[in-house]
Amino acid sequence: MSLTLEDAGRALADPAVYADDRRLHEALTLLRREDPVHRVEAPGYNPFWAVTRHADIMEVERQHGLFVNAPRPLLATAELDEVNRLRQEQGMSLRTLVHIDDPDHRVLRAIGADWFRPRAMRALESRVRELARRYVDRMAELGGECDFVQQIAVKFPLQVILSLLGLPESDFDRMLRLTQELFGGDDDERQRGTSAEEKLQVLFDFFAYFRELTAARRARPTDDLASTIANARVDGEPLNDLDTASYYVIIATAGHDTTSSTIAGGLHALVENPGELARLRADPGLMPLAVDEMIRWTTPVKEFMRTATDDCELRGVPIRKGDALLLSYPSANRDEDVFADPFRFDVGRDPNKHLAFGFGVHYCLGAALARIEVRAFFEELLPRLGSVELAGEPRGIATTFVGGLKRLPVRYTLR
Ligand code: HEM
Repeated sequence: MSLTLEDAGRALADPAVYADDRRLHEALTLLRREDPVHRVEAPGYNPFWAVTRHADIMEVERQHGLFVNAPRPLLATAELDEVNRLRQEQGMSLRTLVHIDDPDHRVLRAIGADWFRPRAMRALESRVRELARRYVDRMAELGGECDFVQQIAVKFPLQVILSLLGLPESDFDRMLRLTQELFGGDDDERQRGTSAEEKLQVLFDFFAYFRELTAARRARPTDDLASTIANARVDGEPLNDLDTASYYVIIATAGHDTTSSTIAGGLHALVENPGELARLRADPGLMPLAVDEMIRWTTPVKEFMRTATDDCELRGVPIRKGDALLLSYPSANRDEDVFADPFRFDVGRDPNKHLAFGFGVHYCLGAALARIEVRAFFEELLPRLGSVELAGEPRGIATTFVGGLKRLPVRYTLR
């Protein structure tokens, strides 16, 4: 039976659909073609508009006064929307960079921005390469077969983030668990519990960890991003506890599962496209283009939401003040109007105007770091890699937010 537009719209609110690329893209392709600004009414969710064309997503992000992030920056169930609304009223909800708008957003973003500029990135690059080498060595130690996601890809980017924040390696396991519970929250294997309260408990655990960190860095400042956040001042005042904790949460979470999903999905794409793997090995100069193609291909951030501050139109569709819009990045990155042969994985794709890092004032702060990480990993791996093949069925994460593969069994030879 063929998919209806209603089914396709509802699919965007179904975490299980995101675990299966074929189902997801069947729905998105139909929406892009037939109804690119589509009203979704899915059971258990407040209604929203699904925006699926590249040009429309850019248009929404460009008009950041008309389409704002607060109060509903992410797709959540109606139950969780209500809990979040109450928490906001009580001043107890997260206020990360993706939850807020100007003028606060501009001020808070500037606090961390220096750590992501080219000079800081160059300083971090040798550490990133060292960690990449360590994880390729680990692949060799694993003896030619591993679950690439669980044993390699989820670990390397978290180590990079810990280095950037200046946290000890001994905190690794605790952070790994918390970031996975926070981001893989719809997937049975990753979630702590199903209720809104249990999901919020994960956030409170994060808060507790970072409260201790703030106290330590204020008592004894060090030269790292954690210290910059802990000691930041706005109008002469330190950030309050909520803004401080929120800052740590966005860095720790945004910089982790996103990059690991790209590395895992990137290797999967190379295994599935041996011609592209051979091409990249024969011409390592293609690596920067290949990295962006892996990011486009995997598009680990599946959506962000915006809320209209006034009545307006998008592609001729009337949008009412207060309506929510879901920006579908995976859809933008397969848009036939922008990408030639969008369903082809092409390590030399140029130009590649993907929207995997978003666009405009909220454009990913860590985009340069993510590119360095993915590049360092594959530049360490490919010269040492002999053969590589699947050793089992890859499996995807069921989540409407940040995801990719959760299992990638591979068999390989490595020098
Ligand atoms: C925001 C994607 C890696 C930190 C975002 C946004 C997207 C995104 C789509 C929202 C942009 C928008 O609303 O227009 C990705 C992808 C990554 C990645 C695909 C990896 C391939 C990282 C890394 C960091 C990071 C390594 C470093 C800590 C952030 C922060 C924001 C953000 C702080 C919030 C920016 C703001 O709202 O002003 N990212 N990201 N990201 N990302 Fe990334």
